[in-house]
Amino acid sequence: MQTKEDGIHATNRDFIRYDQVEKQQTYHLAESTGDEQFDEEFRIRTCDIGRFLHGNDADRRAFAEELGGALREIGFAVLEGHGVDPALYDDAEAHVSEVFTRCSLDEKMRFRAQRHGSVNQGYFPIKETSNMHPDLVEGWVFCRRAFDLEETPVRVEDFWPLPEYEPSFRRIVRAHEALILPVMQSLLLYLGCDPHLYARKLTATNFGLRLNYYPPMSREDDESGAARLLGHEDIDLFTFLPAPSSEGLQVLNRRNMKWIRLSPPRGTIILNSGDYMQRISNDIFPSTTHRVSKPRDPARRGQPRVSFPMAVYVWENEMLEVLPCIPDAKYPPIKAIEFHTSITSKFYGDGYAVKA
Ligand SMILES: [Fe+2]
Repeated sequence: MQTKEDGIHATNRDFIRYDQVEKQQTYHLAESTGDEQFDEEFRIRTCDIGRFLHGNDADRRAFAEELGGALREIGFAVLEGHGVDPALYDDAEAHVSEVFTRCSLDEKMRFRAQRHGSVNQGYFPIKETSNMHPDLVEGWVFCRRAFDLEETPVRVEDFWPLPEYEPSFRRIVRAHEALILPVMQSLLLYLGCDPHLYARKLTATNFGLRLNYYPPMSREDDESGAARLLGHEDIDLFTFLPAPSSEGLQVLNRRNMKWIRLSPPRGTIILNSGDYMQRISNDIFPSTTHRVSKPRDPARRGQPRVSFPMAVYVWENEMLEVLPCIPDAKYPPIKAIEFHTSITSKFYGDGYAVKA
């Protein structure tokens, strides 16, 4: 049986049997010193989504071409012109730190992550983000049901250790929700599909806002070979990640197997496609490997790092089918819960998968 410490030396191929889309890339889960290469040339494209939100038909098509081209090439793009108030992100950054540092471990463990539907939701202690590998991150996943969105009454104290912060994170998920259909319509337009094909599935759909707190690294952790966050692909349609203020995010360029360091300006949103999107797009939009590395400057490893990506899902009972406008489907239809939990059992153990 694999132990977590084996995971420090593992590659993604050791877990490839769990994947539900084709992945030909091979990479070490942790950063390995010495033999890794970095791509200093590749520029992940910045796309102005304001052209879709406020433009005419031609503007919307131009944006769709740009975004679709970026995701097809690398699975990542940077969104500007989205209209989300950057002050929300500044506040959130401070609140994430407080959620993890003001509460005791006992208080946090009351919310320990459990699967509900497709998604493991709640608190993930440090080094327990997955069974595969000891990541140096604490995480907290809040899905739609953790927010007081006025659809059904929610007792926010059942989900939030500091309930006073729910409203400010709710403003962020509301703002990002308004971007879900514009992004999906753009990608469908790019593929030549009916742009409204996912209108129903993505109206009031499920999402997971994940708060990540990477504490200051001790020398022992630094030397252990553990990563801040192991290399992985996102299990979702796409992810909105407000540009973090600390460096660390790296994206794997499958064409040359070099890592791209991605640190776009504050206020922008990093968008990447995930496994659901790769599946329904018949591999046109890849679910691209990324990870969080330690700061290059050892002096900065003593500082915490914060991020708060929001993963966009379809509800667990929806089917994931290759889009009807794409010929020669490589994959049969599959229920979202089966697809999702079959993949996440690589993180949480074989018993995690739900057969639909
Ligand atoms: Fe990710």
